[in-house]
Amino acid sequence: MLSVGRTTRIPGFYRLSVEERLKAVKALAGLSDEEVELLKLSGPLPIEVANRMVENVIATMPLPLGIATNFLINGRDYLVPMAIEEPSVIAAASNAARMARHQGGFKATSTPPIMIGQIQLVNVKDVVNAMEAVAAHRDEVLAKANEYDPTLVKLGGGARDVKARPLNTVRGLMLIVELYVDVRDAMGANVVNTMCEGVAPLIEELTGGKAVLRILTNLAVQRLARAEAVFAKDVIGGEEVVEGIMDAYAFALADPYRAATHNKGIMNGVVAVALATANDTRALEAGAHAYASRSGRYQPLTSWTVNRDGDLVGSIELPIAVGVVGGATSVHPVAKICRKILGVKSACELAEVMAAVGLAQNFAALRALAVEGIQRGHLKLHSRNLAMMAGATGTLIDVIAARMVTERKVSFERAKELLEEYRAKLN
Ligand code: MEV
Repeated sequence: MLSVGRTTRIPGFYRLSVEERLKAVKALAGLSDEEVELLKLSGPLPIEVANRMVENVIATMPLPLGIATNFLINGRDYLVPMAIEEPSVIAAASNAARMARHQGGFKATSTPPIMIGQIQLVNVKDVVNAMEAVAAHRDEVLAKANEYDPTLVKLGGGARDVKARPLNTVRGLMLIVELYVDVRDAMGANVVNTMCEGVAPLIEELTGGKAVLRILTNLAVQRLARAEAVFAKDVIGGEEVVEGIMDAYAFALADPYRAATHNKGIMNGVVAVALATANDTRALEAGAHAYASRSGRYQPLTSWTVNRDGDLVGSIELPIAVGVVGGATSVHPVAKICRKILGVKSACELAEVMAAVGLAQNFAALRALAVEGIQRGHLKLHSRNLAMMAGATGTLIDVIAARMVTERKVSFERAKELLEEYRAKLN
């Protein structure tokens, strides 16, 4: 907390060393020596690396990194690293993946890794003529764009297409020129943005307009990942569970308020894998939720049906723009190890794994909600956290957590009381 009267205007903060920044923040926020010492523990992300990744660094922010097990995807077994602060998510994914194995696990596919960049043109006198000019000079525009990343072109990627469309806006008619780029194993934001900026003068010349924004869209409709799986009725708890999950799905289909939470559960899995591999989680969230609204109505990203045997069949489709090269994925030492644990060879393969994890997560959430309510599982883990917060160590953590769950009294106060009770017994 900042003391009253202190200003956060710190000229040259970015020029200070990490140590000096930490000192300044310590003074401003009234941190204790112990708190500062804790912040100095940067763990496996060296502070010099963190300091080069973003600005104004004072420390690193560690998150639990867990491994989801049991994932069989396209006949291959994967250990899936997930970085997340929320309890139950990793256990739920592992559990769902175990159930999916009975019917062969997940089948996943993906489109080629095409990202779209947008160039916004204003003051275009004749939009129809301008569109024709862009179409007529397609090859020239693509060649120009590809000049900006010869390495990508050598790797088999590069600008593939360019299209123009008129757009009515509150500031009048505009022309939107879209560049389609195969970004191969990168997330693609850098290359697409560079290409858009690079071709903008040529596009201005062709259209007679003025280019304003030149930036990729996160609604990556050309870069989709899909996964499906069959969950056998007998493995997941019988017909009642199948019916419960179908009811839950119907709720999400009919109601955007429910669909938002349904999709949040999916993104629990997708984003946790993205974080573990140092991918851009905000790009994924933006893309997924915009994709969920593409019909004009916000919809669930998964769909569920029942097959002739009465088994549950789930599928998922969403844009997944992730990279295995470039940016933080190539710099963050833990992300590099996570990629090794995963063993994925391409961005498409990573996207397919993430789609499977999203589907598993959704299945697990719907099953838990439909069968027993989500809180029991959550409470088990939450109770361990509370026991630790109260000061329990070693086996006492589990003993106190279990007591609180059995008593259905899961709170910090109860954890403290129980800890005192057990300590008194032990003395
Ligand atoms: C909690 O993080 C996620 C869920 O709310 C998802 C859902 O309701 O489907 C359990």
